[in-house]
Amino acid sequence: MTTLHLPLDRSSGVAIHRQIYDGLRRAILDGVLRPGQRIPSTRTLAAELAVSRLPVLTAYEQLLHECYLEGRAGSGTFVSAALPDDLLQSKTTARPERIGHPPPPVLDEGGLGPFRMSLPALDQFPHAAWSRLVARHAQALPLAQMAYGDPAGVAALRMAIAEHLRAARGVRCEAEQVLIVSGSQAALRLAAAVLLAHGDRVAMEEPGYPGARDALGTGGAEILPVPVDEEGIDVAALQRHGEQVRAVYVTPSHQYPLGMSMTAARRLALLDWAFRHDAWVLEDDYDSEYRYVSRPLGALQGMDAHERVVYIGTFSKVMFPALRIGYLVVPPALWQRFVEARLALDLFSPTLYQLALAEFLREGHFARHLRRMRGVYLKRRDALLAGLERHCGDTLTVHNADAGLHVAVLLAAGIDDIATVQRMRTIGLVATALSTCYAGDDRRSGLLLGFGGSDETRLLAATKRLGEMLRNPA
Ligand SMILES: Cc1ncc(COP(=O)(O)O)c(C=O)c1O
Repeated sequence: MTTLHLPLDRSSGVAIHRQIYDGLRRAILDGVLRPGQRIPSTRTLAAELAVSRLPVLTAYEQLLHECYLEGRAGSGTFVSAALPDDLLQSKTTARPERIGHPPPPVLDEGGLGPFRMSLPALDQFPHAAWSRLVARHAQALPLAQMAYGDPAGVAALRMAIAEHLRAARGVRCEAEQVLIVSGSQAALRLAAAVLLAHGDRVAMEEPGYPGARDALGTGGAEILPVPVDEEGIDVAALQRHGEQVRAVYVTPSHQYPLGMSMTAARRLALLDWAFRHDAWVLEDDYDSEYRYVSRPLGALQGMDAHERVVYIGTFSKVMFPALRIGYLVVPPALWQRFVEARLALDLFSPTLYQLALAEFLREGHFARHLRRMRGVYLKRRDALLAGLERHCGDTLTVHNADAGLHVAVLLAAGIDDIATVQRMRTIGLVATALSTCYAGDDRRSGLLLGFGGSDETRLLAATKRLGEMLRNPA
């Protein structure tokens, strides 16, 4: 905890709360207070400054509202971890000496900032249950579990995942088909290594998930962008690419990035295409657990009578991304090749976390957390939609908000989304530009706004700032 040097001038005529606000803001911008750093409680600071708590509270509230600060339930107030670089280092103020402080850390792409994509509600994670299981397994890890493990993963986890997928997603699978990997990204790399040779052609939804494009292209495969419409990938357009397509990557439950789910007719057409062309379907079911308008749709894999689908899932959205555990459900004909490729890639995933996760599922924590999070995300989504309507209605159009942890919005013609995202970063907002999800030149301009990682108050404040920004030309 820091002792802050905030000189107050009682004769200046500037309100005390304003002086506290200015002093804190300047300390943040100058890097004296660094992103993620805890600041004193209002009570402590009021005592240090010999003022009442009210002006301190008022200053903190304003800084929280402007996202310079963030509150974490039960643990205090912190300098926002998500302050963009360009906000830092104010040019207008003299920089106080930074004695003994290293320069502020380089931030990753927006940290935990409002609208950051792909973030679950980390503040709602059941830390107590999870840490108890990790500690229990760490303390009692048998020697055999400390040695090299099964490349396919820990048996208990594979069984628990197969059970969950059969019941919740209609996936047709046995534990013997479940391969544990380090997230969907690793699953896609593995699928590329097994299924695609240099020069092979792999189709992808256009627009689509850039992470998949990177992974599938690593071995020199040619990526074919195939447009999506309101029903999902355009299978007729896929047919027109001819016989040479080895595989197709799709997100049927919740199209990334536009958000619709693939209709049953399209699913059947896609499976039929795969069967007739001896091609593979890579189904990325990345956030299918969250659907707000109707029951979650079953997985495409469950409709496939010919075992052409490689199903990919992740714990990044229901647990947390840093866990790095995901899985594939592999058709039996491909199993051996996937296991060999997995061994060649990185042998196996850390045993301790697999054991803890298996128990987390078995003891019912996972199902309970999922149920609770559906309610949390529904509220967050509704807050985002209400904020967008109230503050940004005349500047953008919501495309689809039926499922998942982000909303795609379209910007008016002529508004460049990449420039918009850059401007957003200068006011502490972290969105993804829709146009970056296209491989071809025909791109729509829009924003992908994540709502999983921010509570309703933060989302509403962020939409207000977004609306103000969009109405003021750059
Ligand atoms: C379409 C899609 N697939 C997969 C993932 C998850 O990746 P991982 O499991 O590697 O964390 C994401 C994360 O943002 C995603 O958007």
